[in-house]
Amino acid sequence: MKPRGFLTLGDVPVEQWPALFDRAAYLKAHRNQTTLAGKSVALVFEKASTRTRVSFEVGVFELGGHAVVLTSQGSQIARGEPIEDTARVLSGYCQGIVLRTFGQERVATLQRHASVPVINGLSDQHHPCQVATDLFTVREKLGRIDGLRYAWIGDGNNMANSWIEAAGLFGLDLQLACPEGFGPDADILRAARDRQARSGGSITITSDPKAAAAGAHVISTDVWASMGQEDEAAARKKAFAGYCVDAALVQRGAPDAIVLHCLPAHRGEEITGDVLDGPHSLAWVQAENRLHVGKAILEHVLLDRVSG
Ligand code: CP
Ligand code: NVA
Repeated sequence: MKPRGFLTLGDVPVEQWPALFDRAAYLKAHRNQTTLAGKSVALVFEKASTRTRVSFEVGVFELGGHAVVLTSQGSQIARGEPIEDTARVLSGYCQGIVLRTFGQERVATLQRHASVPVINGLSDQHHPCQVATDLFTVREKLGRIDGLRYAWIGDGNNMANSWIEAAGLFGLDLQLACPEGFGPDADILRAARDRQARSGGSITITSDPKAAAAGAHVISTDVWASMGQEDEAAARKKAFAGYCVDAALVQRGAPDAIVLHCLPAHRGEEITGDVLDGPHSLAWVQAENRLHVGKAILEHVLLDRVSG
């Protein structure tokens, strides 16, 4: 049987998410559990990372296992060793693989050729570990994730796509404000809207950040140029003018609106410094929660358990 993986949020059955979040909360309160004793996990990075790398490396350590970090440049990946071969070889040493990469097909190919579970540590299309953490952070602060209004301000990028998938799975009301030409993935959007026929909620897309933020309980944003889009940064800065999450925009949200940013942030571009460092921001709790949710995800895929 193929081991379970976590390539997108939909890979965890929707009914198992509450237990996964409960487990993350337990692990937050009880840091050193040894459920991964004797197990090794490869963390493979084809793009830069601070949070994903450190939270998974520390997370595996705290669970009693051993993490091996590889970068493309420091491994044979940059010399062109196929991802299929890397999958087979790492499966012989490790009990799980986390991959941060470019196209989603690369993480899917890794999973197809691995005989151990694979976790998507960010691709161009999805960032499921981060949005799982964001939902956990909302639940921790507000006690629930449903019945809230969510706003996404900015690029229709990997984070936006995973938020859209979450809205489909959990029946959330999500309003996205993206400039013309920078909307989210059409297939992911269609699939999430189809899913909402059963789960409820709504997903609307506008080019007006004020409309998207109106009454929102949770306001999220992210950089305007993601990793791999460095050459487009200047053009994007122009296209995204007016999409900054500033104090005036937050004022349009619910009175105690939460502001989320997966980080790293560019203060003065997608978010002002006073908002990121101000009372509405949960960015720092959110960053810490990557550790606890990452551990619960590791247990879910490696141990076939979500609670206990
Ligand atoms: N939020 C996030 O994934 O951060 P890193 O790029 O530092 O891993
Ligand atoms: N959208 C960003 C997220 C970084 C964590 C990127 O892909 O660079």
